[in-house]
Amino acid sequence: MATENQEEIKIQFVLNGETRDISVNPKTLLLDYLRDAGLKSVKSGCREGDCGTCTVLIDGIPTQSCVTKLSTVAGKKIETLEALGTAENLHPLQKTFLETGAIQCGFCTPAQILTAKALLEKNPNPTDEEIRESLSAVLCRCTGYVRNIDAVMRAAAVMRGESVSDYKVPELIFQSDIDKVVLPQAYYRKDDKKKPLLPLVLTPEKMPKMIAVGKTPTKVDGVKLVTGKPAFTDDVQPEGLLFAALLTSPHAHANIKDIDTTKAKALPGVIEVLTYKDIPRVKYATSGQSYPQPMPYDQVVLDNKVRHVGDRVAVVAAINREIAEKALKLIDVTYEVLPFVLDAELAMKDGAPVIHDEKDTEGIFDASHNRVYHIEAEVGEPDQAFKESDNIIEGEFRTPKQQHAQLEPHICITYLDEDNRLVVRTSTQVPFHVRRIIAPLIGLPEKRIRVIKPRIGGGFGGKQEVLLEDLCSILTLRTGRPVRLELTRSQEFTSSRTRHRQALRFKLGVKNQKLIAAEFKLIGDTGAYGTHGLTVNMVAGFKGLTLYNAPNSRFICDVVYTNTPPSGAFRGYGAMQAQFAVEVLMEEFAEKLGVDVIEFKRKNWLKLGETMHLAKKLGEGREGYEQAMVTSGMEDCVKVGLKATEFFAKRELYKAQQGQIKKGIGMAVVIHGSGIAGLDMAAATLKMNDDGSFNLTVGATDIGTGSDTILAQIAAEELGIPVEDFIVYSSDTDFTPFDKGAYASSTTYISGGAVLKAARNIRGQILTHAAKMLKVNEPETLRIVERRIIAPDENSVTMREVALSSLHQLDQHQIMATESHISFTSPPPTAAQFAEVKVHTDTGEVEVERLLMVVDCGRVINPITAAGQVEGGMAQALGFAMGEDTYYNANGNVTNDRFSTYDLVKADKMPPLDVIFVQTDEPSGPFGAKSVSELSIDGAAPAIVSAVHNATGVWFHDLPLTKEKVLTGLSK
Ligand code: FES
Repeated sequence: MATENQEEIKIQFVLNGETRDISVNPKTLLLDYLRDAGLKSVKSGCREGDCGTCTVLIDGIPTQSCVTKLSTVAGKKIETLEALGTAENLHPLQKTFLETGAIQCGFCTPAQILTAKALLEKNPNPTDEEIRESLSAVLCRCTGYVRNIDAVMRAAAVMRGESVSDYKVPELIFQSDIDKVVLPQAYYRKDDKKKPLLPLVLTPEKMPKMIAVGKTPTKVDGVKLVTGKPAFTDDVQPEGLLFAALLTSPHAHANIKDIDTTKAKALPGVIEVLTYKDIPRVKYATSGQSYPQPMPYDQVVLDNKVRHVGDRVAVVAAINREIAEKALKLIDVTYEVLPFVLDAELAMKDGAPVIHDEKDTEGIFDASHNRVYHIEAEVGEPDQAFKESDNIIEGEFRTPKQQHAQLEPHICITYLDEDNRLVVRTSTQVPFHVRRIIAPLIGLPEKRIRVIKPRIGGGFGGKQEVLLEDLCSILTLRTGRPVRLELTRSQEFTSSRTRHRQALRFKLGVKNQKLIAAEFKLIGDTGAYGTHGLTVNMVAGFKGLTLYNAPNSRFICDVVYTNTPPSGAFRGYGAMQAQFAVEVLMEEFAEKLGVDVIEFKRKNWLKLGETMHLAKKLGEGREGYEQAMVTSGMEDCVKVGLKATEFFAKRELYKAQQGQIKKGIGMAVVIHGSGIAGLDMAAATLKMNDDGSFNLTVGATDIGTGSDTILAQIAAEELGIPVEDFIVYSSDTDFTPFDKGAYASSTTYISGGAVLKAARNIRGQILTHAAKMLKVNEPETLRIVERRIIAPDENSVTMREVALSSLHQLDQHQIMATESHISFTSPPPTAAQFAEVKVHTDTGEVEVERLLMVVDCGRVINPITAAGQVEGGMAQALGFAMGEDTYYNANGNVTNDRFSTYDLVKADKMPPLDVIFVQTDEPSGPFGAKSVSELSIDGAAPAIVSAVHNATGVWFHDLPLTKEKVLTGLSK
């Protein structure tokens, strides 16, 4: 990248075995040089030396290239992932990262592999601790590090010349009584306390056997990720690219009286500067949801008012990053600073600053008190039921404003193609929603916009928002040039989205230990804009009141604006906060009643066949559909977890501990959903090729979850051919059919349903054509086995022969099908979460020593990718419970807006994350599948609080559980 006014110096170094003699600007960063040189495995996650995704080896030492000047590498040897192995000849580390499922989004993978390589070169036989310590230099937000550590151990063994056994997930088949299952010893964790365990799958004997489903094929996109191929948004840059940069507000609340861009525009290299004066005022919401998105549309592309530190003020496009950043400093903004409010409860009071006082926003419930939504829903007669209760408990809980902290920042590249259509290449979970939402903002019809979703470096809900695509597109339309716009890491904390901070008050009433009444009052802090405020908080109400499904229930909720960065979609989506509160309160209730907590929960949790009382009243942003629990593995999950943790024995033991360090064990039960009933729709297309392979094109968005692989497995199962015969492509609004996108735990269940229908359709076409070739009258008598269609008389044709015949010879036509799928039920996956902790009562430190989740997600399509979801979910939940929150200074500025100050759990501090699946067979899901991704984040917080109580006798209601809060709680 060119930089100005710098005298260049000559240096020589060796890059991936090749000597380079170059003249270099002393300010050039190694990261930028390497990426400009085409080495796209080197990622840019923070540019602050904190995340480690830019790690390369310099003379064999892992080094962060984003804080290394190119001039300092003179005379040294630099190695990037590109030098390791090729797709045909992978390095042992690349192989083991692939086979263990250590790759989810893959953004951190190159740096993790290089870091591990450096370790193994120094220490060929590292301990688990040494691997953890080494990998802690590279953050991974997806995995929980379990498979990564396993991958390094296996590679080390291979490199030492030892043989390693197949990486095969153990499965135990059980008859009706799960109590009789004898778990393998390792799952009790008596000996090796930290060693990564493979997930264990427990399968009822009556479930049909599968061929492709339930297996763990190599991820269909794994090789390109493990070899660092250019797969992400920023890895492909068009010629003549302009670099855009965003000017954001330094004030929590202010009117912009004027903006003068004269000096910025005069800076050589600046091509465009845009402010609110330049862009038509079109109201919209950034939430990437189905049409019509819930009101209010309380944003415009650029406004003359700012409502939080980090709010958009202006955007610059220039010929390089440095000039764009310099130009931002030359924009003169005259602010009229206004009083601000950071707390939702204060924001509702009379006299609080009014955040949305603009006249053109419709649909705010009570703008003068900053209440954007007020939600009430009720079933039965809660007041009467409380009167009839023989015992009542109440509790108030608080949950933090957690950041997604995905490693790839929000990034978008836009350009005009040869037909003058706008192409938006963007890191999004919702490509089809992006196209629809930006069209009116940029003044183009949808048909002139093509949105391409490349590989995504993590999303977790944060990329379900339309944050950059509008501005980037407008810059391209104004300049006629390709434009790249990316949030800085600091802007990720101040200008993107977070989890909703919530204050939750539950009141529960029982009669003979049976829950008959529940009331849930919720205040959800949506930050400066509404976006997902309605839907997240409705889901909180529905899931929070459905886990125990009292017949007389009431939900009262206010969703409130504050002058803080907006809240949005985040894995768990309100359900995790609500289930944290209700689970802890149920534990307290059992203690108050003097009854066994498991029996008490068992008596009350949502049971098989039960109607979910609030399903109709609390849909997502609108009325929902009547639903009942059709499959549930809750009971079995609890039994298995109790056994694997020796729960009762430990619980008793820990009640009478002496000394300052005390141990505890806790548990929680949780449910989630599988897509949004009656709203989420997905489609899939299968097309047969000459060789009998298939293009599987889906609008579903693999954001690291492994959904491309899972969808191929579903098609493979139906068609009786291997996964490698599918070329999966997702997603591109020009070439793939519609899908609502990756959210609401819907991909396996909804998108998988579409793939299964398309595969069934294709199967019918293949059998019909093969029957003609084989001169068989009844196509349904044919069967497909290993790429061969076999007639009852054992005559057969191959898939390839069918393809060639149908395309070139007999009754010529293209065998292909597109099918759509929607479900009017959202079957809840269920799980039991267990946590073991050690509490340092002198310092308040809580060490989580083990998290075990026993999961019923229906049929497990791929146990390794599913386990990866559960491990990653538990890891993020651990952060939610123990340390992640957003803090502000007196001006409303976020004080922990860096990875170095935001409390992410790194590899060296991550406890063992164990996963056991108990399979059920959900009739509405593809091959019996429900969802897994969000369920996995729901349980750790209440289980940890339960464990801390077991250790100390104190209940904690306010997350995260910092040392200070624990000490304060213990001192009461
Ligand atoms: Fe590590 Fe996604 S796989 S950040």
